[in-house]
Order: sequence, then C-alpha cells, then structure tokens
Amino acid sequence: MPFTANRAFKRAPRMLVAAKGMYYTAADGRQILDGTAGLWCVNAGHCRESITAAIREQAGVMDYAPPFQMGHPLAFELAQQLVRMLPGDIDHVFFGNSGSEAVDTALKIALAYWQSKGQPQRVRFIGRSRGYHGVGFGGIAVGGIEANRKQFAGQLLPAVDHLQHTHDLSRNAYSRGQPRQGAELANELEAVVQKYGADTIAAVIVEPVAGSTGVLIPPVGYLDRLREICDRHGILLIFDEVITGFGRLGAPFAADKFGVVPDIMTVAKGITNATVPMGAVCVRHGIYDCVVNASASGIELFHGYTYSGHPLAAAAGLATLDVYRTEGLFERAASLEDYFGDAVHALRGTRHVVDLRNIGIVGAVELEARPGAPGARGFEAFLKCFDAGVLVRSTGDTLALSPPLIVEREEIDRIFETVGQALREIA
Ligand SMILES: Cc1ncc(COP(=O)(O)O)c(C=O)c1O
Repeated sequence: MPFTANRAFKRAPRMLVAAKGMYYTAADGRQILDGTAGLWCVNAGHCRESITAAIREQAGVMDYAPPFQMGHPLAFELAQQLVRMLPGDIDHVFFGNSGSEAVDTALKIALAYWQSKGQPQRVRFIGRSRGYHGVGFGGIAVGGIEANRKQFAGQLLPAVDHLQHTHDLSRNAYSRGQPRQGAELANELEAVVQKYGADTIAAVIVEPVAGSTGVLIPPVGYLDRLREICDRHGILLIFDEVITGFGRLGAPFAADKFGVVPDIMTVAKGITNATVPMGAVCVRHGIYDCVVNASASGIELFHGYTYSGHPLAAAAGLATLDVYRTEGLFERAASLEDYFGDAVHALRGTRHVVDLRNIGIVGAVELEARPGAPGARGFEAFLKCFDAGVLVRSTGDTLALSPPLIVEREEIDRIFETVGQALREIA
C-alpha cells in the first residue's frame, strides 16, 4: 500500500466501502465525515450524479482512443474549458494521469522549451525544502521531503537545488491567512542565481501553498518576489497547483488567489473530482509556441502517456467543471473561508497545539511532537478522529483539514470539535 505502514494496516485495517456527498461509509457501516476531500481531491463531494452519469455514458460510447497520432473531441473540449478558467496567457494543456506525471511533464516541457529557444544549457531546477511534487524521479528530485528521497537518493536528477521553506513559527505562529513575515525568504533565489548563473537555470518549482508537508502558506509578498526574480533572470516559474487548484483556496487557482501568474502550472486531483485519474500541465502561450513552432517538422515533444486525455477522464473532467460552475463552488469556498478559519483558530489553547493556520478551505493543526517519536501524536490523533467518525489527515505531527467545498457549517463545527476532543484524549 502506498505511503502506509503495511504491517500495521494488516493488523487493523481501515476500509471504506461507499461514499456520498460529505460522507464515506466504513466497512463496519459507520458514516465517516470526510474532512479531507479524500486526499485533497473530491472538491465537489462524493459520487456526484452528473459526474458518475457522464463517466457511465462515455464508457458505453467510446472506452478508449489512442492519444498518439490520434485524438478525440472530449479531450480538446476539456482543454478549451480549462483554458477559459486559467489565469494570464496560459492557453495550452497537456494531459496525463496524476499529479506526479504532471510534475515530470512540466519539468520536461521546461527543458524542451530551453532547447527550442537555443539555450540547452539551462537544465537546473530549483525546488524548495519541504516541497511535495509527487513521486516520479523528477518530482522527488525537486521535492524537499527527505523521507521521500532517502531510499532513492543514489539516483536522483543531478542538477537540482532547493530554496528554504517559509515555515517560521517564531515569527508567524497562529497566522490567519497569509503570514505577515517572510517575503524576504524569496531573495534566496537571487543568491542561487548568483551561485550557478541564471543561464544554467531552467525553472523554479513551488507549491503556492505547500500541502502534503503540513500546509505551509506563503508569506505576504513571497510569491510576487519569486516571480520578480524569475522575470529578471528569464527563469520559468512553475506552480504545482495539484492541491491548490479548483477552488480549494476560494479562488479557481492559487495564482488567482495570490495574484501571481506562473509560466507553467500543474493540476490534477480536483480536475475530475478524483473520479477518474487525470493530471494536466498548463503552459503560457509563448512556451507552447516555442516548443511547437521552433522544432523541425514531425513530433515536437517526445513525451506522452497511453492514457493521456483518456475519454472517461475527459468526460469526468467536463462534468466536474460543470458542477463547479453551476453550483458556484469556488465562490462558496470563498464565502466559507472566514467561518472555516474561525473554527480552525478556536482550537487555540487546546492540549498539544503549537500552531494553527488556514487559508481558503484548508486548515492545519500543528502539534508538539512527542519527544523521540516524531509523527506518533499526529497519527494517534488521526486514529482517534477516525474512531469518532471524522476523516482527517496527519502529516507528521500536523493535522491537515480540507473538506469538500460543499461542506456545511455544522459539518465544519463537527470536524474541529472532533479534533479538539481527540487532542484532549491522546497522550
Ligand atoms: C503539490 C502536489 N504535487 C504532486 C502531487 C502528486 O500527485 P499524485 O499523487 O496524483 O501523483 C501531489 C499529491 O498530493 C501534490 O500535493
């Protein structure tokens, strides 16, 4: 099982057998309130009728079409609808099947771009410590979660460096929304440029809000400064919006929320409401134009997946975007942001809590690590909440909350009351 203590799981499995709206049904029949939208992905809630109907219907019309040298209209339609939602001049989309594939594809597109532009020496990628960019070799190389790298450290991408992360409890504990302090941390990119030379750097990749590492929200001005430094040196800026996309922050994308447009954006998860696996890389006009038009005739990008733009995923994606639009779910998330933030910060003073933070419909409850057993307290809190009928996510000693955007106020209350009770009960 992925990212799971397999032996412990087999001794005490936690199995889910059905889902509807805000709730899972566990194997023992209990209703479990979904405080995490699955894995940050079921933004419109579970088993939405119009989405499942679209998938069923497409499965009966055309199950599969090869994407190499062939196409099918739904994938193009989905790309067009996405482009209408995307910020700035991001106007082309390449489909894959996951966030990890989107990240590796984005890195490849960055390299292809510099080759086409006549600067093939620009190969270095700059990630950020504590960043999570999936599990492909590219993603773990630019990622900054040590546990995900160390089993594979003998063979990662060679030309990579990392900025420091922005999490600083000494200055920003209990921030609501963006922390006030820390924009200057982006200046480290300037130092990295001086160290290697701008003309060797292909791209900088960051999660606008780092999710999997425990919800690290960018300080006010930080992303703007990264953008400025990238512009000054002609470096591409990649936002990994696999978690932050599709309304999670109360705006279509983090780029909209923070008013900073990247050159390349990766998305996945919420693109199909997690019904059928899909990811995508979205690029600014000039990147598409350069890669496609500067190459000799024939195949322009030697990359792709058997299931790129899969018909079922494309049908699911179109139905999902329709739900987001017709139900105004991104606006709904924005209107709930304050209520959600109040619920997060109401846990201040609760046993074990050392920080609370929130943005959009994302919250984090950071716990003091148990001496000598990092992560144990967070995991026990997760188990307690599950026993009490609420699904939360523990990442180390931080509990991350990110319910579907259809969440009701009483459900927000219940999520945080359950977390509070769990923290009072665990050692
Ligand atoms: C920011 C980010 N990038 C990439 C990924 C990888 O996505 P996947 O698990 O679909 O490969 C994730 C997954 O959580 C993510 O949060």
